[in-house]
Amino acid sequence: MRVYSGIQPTGRKHLGNYLGAIRHYVTGQEEARAAGDEAIFCVVDLHATTVAYDPAELRDRTYDTVAILLAAGLDPAASILYRQGDVPEVPELTWLLTSVTAHGDLNRMHQFKEKSAQQRELVSAGLFLYPVLMAADVLAFRADRVPVGDDQRQHIELMRDIALRFNARFGGGDDGEPREILRVPEGVYPTVAARIMDLQAPERKMSTSSGSIEGTLYLLDDARTTEKKLKRAVTDSENPPRIVRGPEKAGVSNLIDILAATTDRTPDEVEASLTDARGYGDLKVAAADAVNATLAPLRERYAELRGDEAAIEAALAVGAEKARAIAQPVLAEVREAMGVGPRA
Ligand code: TYM
Repeated sequence: MRVYSGIQPTGRKHLGNYLGAIRHYVTGQEEARAAGDEAIFCVVDLHATTVAYDPAELRDRTYDTVAILLAAGLDPAASILYRQGDVPEVPELTWLLTSVTAHGDLNRMHQFKEKSAQQRELVSAGLFLYPVLMAADVLAFRADRVPVGDDQRQHIELMRDIALRFNARFGGGDDGEPREILRVPEGVYPTVAARIMDLQAPERKMSTSSGSIEGTLYLLDDARTTEKKLKRAVTDSENPPRIVRGPEKAGVSNLIDILAATTDRTPDEVEASLTDARGYGDLKVAAADAVNATLAPLRERYAELRGDEAAIEAALAVGAEKARAIAQPVLAEVREAMGVGPRA
């Protein structure tokens, strides 16, 4: 059972990334370890080149992200942690997979529509092909489970379709039963906090690229900033205030989810615990305390780890070597099945 996930390089990873994804990487790592397997995690620097970006910053942002992952508990000795650009098999597979990817499907991707609308100068072909590169990330490793937040559902469905279409098109044996050349992976979504919303605009997801600084809880914010942002979170004007989830209560629902996820409770349990609260202030203070307590160890370890770039590079080099050793035979099979290159 192979766990795989990817994350974009930025130092501004936020609470949505943590609750929706990063903390589940750590659980995935432990599950894989218990099963005698290695989970695989990738910092996707090639994906970062699909929108306007500063080349001088990309490497730093990659180190920031690796340091965040290590600080959150990923262990490069137990898992494979690599940088996408270090594994050339992945962009090669991307190209090969474009042959079984429908242009119309890519056109329907929400993320493409949103991000292309944000670009001021150029909507790159890379942004359009982003989901194919993401499919190649996972399919090159024949991963079974992909822990991600809710916003990645459409990308995961597409990668499953790509794998199925590839097997149907190129895996045909003489008996007519398609061989599973590429494993069809499954998305794994959190039961709580799969979609954390912006504190200032709770109808929108918390996001690095489109949110406001005040509405986004960055993992590397200090405790006071976190508290201030949560205290200023938009709620509603219901009188008397009711600490329950519901339609028309996006802000309160989001705070309940945040508190539930950071105290390992269900949202129902959180609601039950706050029936005597006097107002939304109590919910906000409880959420701020819980978020800060959850993130304190990560923040502390990040500060220790980020300074040693040589150690980060060394860990990534080991990761790249292990990753390539898995991807190379998959690529060889894909090329052979597609009739690309010399006969095997
Ligand atoms: P990225 O870097 O934007 O996000 C990393 C992870 O964080 C989750 N996430 C959220 N979860 C809950 N609430 C939110 N507001 C929120 N915002 C983000 C994302 O769902 C994601 O799991 N396309 C991916 C990167 C990627 C990838 C892959 C993922 C590239 N290749 C292969 C899995 C497998 C992305 O945009 O990540």
